[in-house]
Amino acid sequence: MRGARRIVILTGAGISAESGISTFRDPDGVWSRYDLNEVATPDGFRRNPELVQAFYNARRSALRKVEPNAAHLALARLESQMDTCIVTQNVDDLHERAGSRDVLHMHGELSGALCGNCGHRWPAGGDISCGDKCPVCKCCRVRPDVVWFGEMPYHTQRIDELVAAADIFAAIGTSGEVSPANSLVFDAADAGARTIEFNLVETIITHAFSEARRGPAGEIVPRWVDELLGY
Ligand code: OAD
Repeated sequence: MRGARRIVILTGAGISAESGISTFRDPDGVWSRYDLNEVATPDGFRRNPELVQAFYNARRSALRKVEPNAAHLALARLESQMDTCIVTQNVDDLHERAGSRDVLHMHGELSGALCGNCGHRWPAGGDISCGDKCPVCKCCRVRPDVVWFGEMPYHTQRIDELVAAADIFAAIGTSGEVSPANSLVFDAADAGARTIEFNLVETIITHAFSEARRGPAGEIVPRWVDELLGY
């Protein structure tokens, strides 16, 4: 492990865009085609569970057809040589498939199932259907293990600790529209970290970063990793 710098990387949908997964808020993004209140809230699920299961089943099936891109691979290379943790808002598994090991999914994972009754979590395998039973409590309130609007993200305490101890905090491909992920840069800056934003465009939180790099993640992230590793 080279150097003693602790690096925390927040990723958002933009890092997976070049793999072929839609972002949410870009003009052709997921929220231009679906109403988030219908497919990404507990109320939406109560109103129409079939619609919500179909939405996530389609995303799970699309995920199986794509691969990690150069940005995911570069972060895995960084982790193999420096103290690096990825905090991701993404529910895909492209960081893991690229080789990253230290990944915290704050919005859950598409590959997971969650019992809405007892809270048991397990690997979904394939599609989740409304009649599926929880293996523990046997009830039929099985849902995708993704965090919906109005729900508490995962790992928040661990993420706060990591950010408070970071020497470098980088945000890659996130619009900064969603809390609490969008406040991490402020905490990192308060704790004295160097903060860098990687995005195609300026965002509503760009001003909070000490540095911003513009371009596709698949190009600008590998270049940055090379710099950090001294190539
Ligand atoms: P957004 O869709 O809000 O933002 C994606 C960001 O990625 C935008 O700022 C784009 O400019 C940028 N971007 C797109 N393509 C890029 C590329 N090739 N390289 C670099 N940047 C690129 O996605 P998130 O910020 O991840 O939550 O959204 C946060 C949360 O809102 C998601 O986790 C999801 C969503 O609703 C839930 O569903 C709970």
